[in-house]
Amino acid sequence: MVSIEQVTHITFENTQYQLLINGAWQESESGGDYPVTNPATGEVLMFVPDGTARDTRAAIDAAATALPGWSVVPAVERANILRRVAALMLERREHLATVMTLEQGKPLTEARGEIAYAASFLSWFAGEAERIYGQIVPASRPNQRIFVLRQPVGVVALITPWNFPAAMLTRKLGPALAAGCTVIAKPAEQTPLSALELGQLFIEAGIPPGVVNIITCQNPLPFSDTVFADDRVRKISFTGSTEVGRLLIRKSADSVKRISLELGGNAPFIVFKDADLPAAVTGAIMTKFRNSGQTCICANRIFVQRDVYDQFAALFTQEVSKLKVGNGLEPGNVIGPLIDRAAHEKVQRHIDNALEHGAEVLLGGHPLPHSDNPSGTFWQPTVLSHVSSGMLISQEETFGPVAPLIPFDTEAEVIQQANSTPYGLAAYFYTRDVSRVFRVAEQLEFGIVGVNDALPSTAQAPFGGVKQSGLGREGGSFGIDEYLNVKYLSMGI
Ligand code: SIN
Repeated sequence: MVSIEQVTHITFENTQYQLLINGAWQESESGGDYPVTNPATGEVLMFVPDGTARDTRAAIDAAATALPGWSVVPAVERANILRRVAALMLERREHLATVMTLEQGKPLTEARGEIAYAASFLSWFAGEAERIYGQIVPASRPNQRIFVLRQPVGVVALITPWNFPAAMLTRKLGPALAAGCTVIAKPAEQTPLSALELGQLFIEAGIPPGVVNIITCQNPLPFSDTVFADDRVRKISFTGSTEVGRLLIRKSADSVKRISLELGGNAPFIVFKDADLPAAVTGAIMTKFRNSGQTCICANRIFVQRDVYDQFAALFTQEVSKLKVGNGLEPGNVIGPLIDRAAHEKVQRHIDNALEHGAEVLLGGHPLPHSDNPSGTFWQPTVLSHVSSGMLISQEETFGPVAPLIPFDTEAEVIQQANSTPYGLAAYFYTRDVSRVFRVAEQLEFGIVGVNDALPSTAQAPFGGVKQSGLGREGGSFGIDEYLNVKYLSMGI
């Protein structure tokens, strides 16, 4: 087996990590760069260009110039390019997954899974490109005909997060390119390498210059100010925090841009007394600890009916205690580091607040100094019991490996508590009562509901939230609508 040092060396040899503008790799016009660090070790992996407003404008120029050509490329040819990139991703899965683990920290097995998940969005939207149908609408006069067309919205800016550096990008790139839009993408400052690797695959797959542009930068503001100020950019798609989402809505007002937002969540995970308890335990662990708890749809509040609370808590704690924490490149580790110190501090704050207000620690509760990075961001998987709704951990997304258990008595009470949040992204519940399945699913105010299923995400389903969790849908047949304008022709004949 190769050592971690060798993997790092092999991975980065001969790879150029620069801005992708108009089909060419280039430095920032300012010559500036910034370090990308490995959250598991604190080491600097690489320097990437610190893109400026001028770089962003150059990318918009390229995307605007490429738009007329790309938007009329036959759908089948656009689809073929997406399929080629998906195939290349699977072919180079090991390399791409290793780069992801190095910059993001998630265990290699999860990173491999994410590469396949990311590729699936390109394959799915390749199919959707071929199904951008219009309509013929019954006219109101005998000598009139009405045709409805769906056309690309134009140049789009995609702003993606660090928690899924490949999949959140392809979930936007797939529909944008399938629809015939051209793109300027800005990956999260912490995880630019996966996006740049994808850029290289698009070049190899034959994407015309200017159709996909990638700007890396340490401070996202000059990028976002530039794309919002430019009338040629017709749409922004963002995945990230609700706080930033609100700012983007305000910024979009001046130029009335279309905007899609995948924002924060505060997912309830409800275990009814009639649930298959071992399945509920497995599901809760999958959704809570995936990506070290750093997903927008991960269970944030675990409600357990009082009749089975002690039994669930014991089984859950026993299984969580088996999760191995450490550098994601080492086989067997299933919990990697948190992305940075700010994430680490938020977890600490939530745990401290819960304990001050009467919660009890069933497991963990502490950071985990690790030989790779003693001052790093590893956190021991934590289970808290007797959490209540007034605590910070019940009100805000923790984004860390902490599972708060909350007892409840009745179905009506738990639905009320589950919905009592400004967020509405994902919710989960476990039950074997078919009537309850429909009753509860219909009352939960969330865009995604997992019923006896803790991993609902898939390319063919419409991912997205209600309330303050966002606007629009990604994935499924709905996903491409976000990148299409509807126009109708009314013809006198
Ligand atoms: C997210 O955290 O927003 C993405 C999770 C997923 O696609 O499953």
